[in-house]
Amino acid sequence: MDSIRVKGGNELNGRIPISGAKNAALPLMIASLLTDDTLTLENVPDLADVQQLIRILGNHGVDHSVNGRREKQQEGYSRTINFSARHIVDTTAPYELVSKMRASFWVIGPLLARMGEAKVSLPGGCAIGTRPVDLLLEVLQSLGTEIDIEGGYAIARAKNKRLVGNRHRFGKVTVGGTHVGLMAASLAKGETVLENAAREPEIVNLAECLNAMGAKITGAGTSTITIEGVDSLSGARHRVIPDRIETGTYAMAVAMTGGDVVLEGGRIDLLQRAIDILTETGAEISQQDDGIRVKRNGNGVRAIDVTTEPFPGFPTDLQAQFMGLMTMASGQSRITETIFENRFMHVQELARLGAHISLSGQTAIVDGVSRLKGAPVMATDLRASVSLVIAGLAAEGETTVSRIYHLDRGFERLEDKLSNCGAVVERLSG
Ligand code: EPZ
Repeated sequence: MDSIRVKGGNELNGRIPISGAKNAALPLMIASLLTDDTLTLENVPDLADVQQLIRILGNHGVDHSVNGRREKQQEGYSRTINFSARHIVDTTAPYELVSKMRASFWVIGPLLARMGEAKVSLPGGCAIGTRPVDLLLEVLQSLGTEIDIEGGYAIARAKNKRLVGNRHRFGKVTVGGTHVGLMAASLAKGETVLENAAREPEIVNLAECLNAMGAKITGAGTSTITIEGVDSLSGARHRVIPDRIETGTYAMAVAMTGGDVVLEGGRIDLLQRAIDILTETGAEISQQDDGIRVKRNGNGVRAIDVTTEPFPGFPTDLQAQFMGLMTMASGQSRITETIFENRFMHVQELARLGAHISLSGQTAIVDGVSRLKGAPVMATDLRASVSLVIAGLAAEGETTVSRIYHLDRGFERLEDKLSNCGAVVERLSG
């Protein structure tokens, strides 16, 4: 199993190209199931999760082809990929595929909308919490779906083969539920209104793509989204937004190590709250034409309290990385996780680097230390893994992060991007 070895102590200086967002690309790829025409997606990141979803979509009959060369200079290493679901050959998403990636459950929305039926394995738990799908099934039921749970599968059938628009209020803000609701309602008969919808930029990116395909969606980016169902959708060409979590992660890395880095293609408006917080800790951050510039010079890191919230709040997907930063702040910081109940697995690993963190329910209390010290640590999930890598960059000596297959799910060419800015990072095979 591969691991990453980091020799800490260097500042980061230079340019890091920001890739297309994983969490935007995945639902956009799934939206290709809604049309028999070709959906061309630009700026798709080259990640293990994208490859896995290509396999899952292939099982339903989606062909894909990768266009041209990688767009190396401006847009990370992301690619343009054509997806074509001319014929849906199978409406079942089996356990072996869905269990590897939770987001693949979302195929239930477009399969139902286009084919009137879907049989999709329930995804099961994952490292960061129980993560049920009840809210996703509820929105589909509101649109006229009958659902039976049998043998670990959700067996869903649209009454009279077509979904029917309705007013639906999500009991809790859910990104996946909103994606599924949008895709399903796009081909439903009549109008759907989704209330208490997620407002994440990835939702807006999906709604814009669906509109380019002929859907009639208004209000994406607010908590009430209206969808006027259409009879069919066409192909389109659409661009994946830059990855705001990757952007925030590298911004935090610079805040930890010190230095001066331009995050090429990064957009502050996609993560304003996290940028505000980082600025409060002492980083200097500005939007430039070519991206976001992050600087931190000699001054210490100020301790700031943070609570994770749905967008536009501070993202749960940056909580572990922010905790890494707070381990070396002057003073105490309280980090409260409100989205997932078990997203503190990095705490014990950061402690191995010398961090002082105690847990009180859903709050981590971090007492900054003057320096972290390198150690062997183990990655537990995607965002926790990267928090260990960036903590290693700021630590004295050598840190080895094992089980980094998690990282490959969501960070494109992490070692290259960091090494190009002066970090000593290498991947060890085996
Ligand atoms: C998306 O997951 C992201 N995944 C997650 O990123 C991200 O952490 C999360 O949104 C929150 O921002 C992708 O976009 C592929 P939710 P999702 O439905 O859609 C509960 C990463 O590291 N809930 O918004 O699955 C749920 O347990 C990943 O890239 C229910 O109770 O998240 C959680 O507490 C990890 N019932 C809360 O809602 C449901 O049916 C929000 O989850 C669905 C969710």
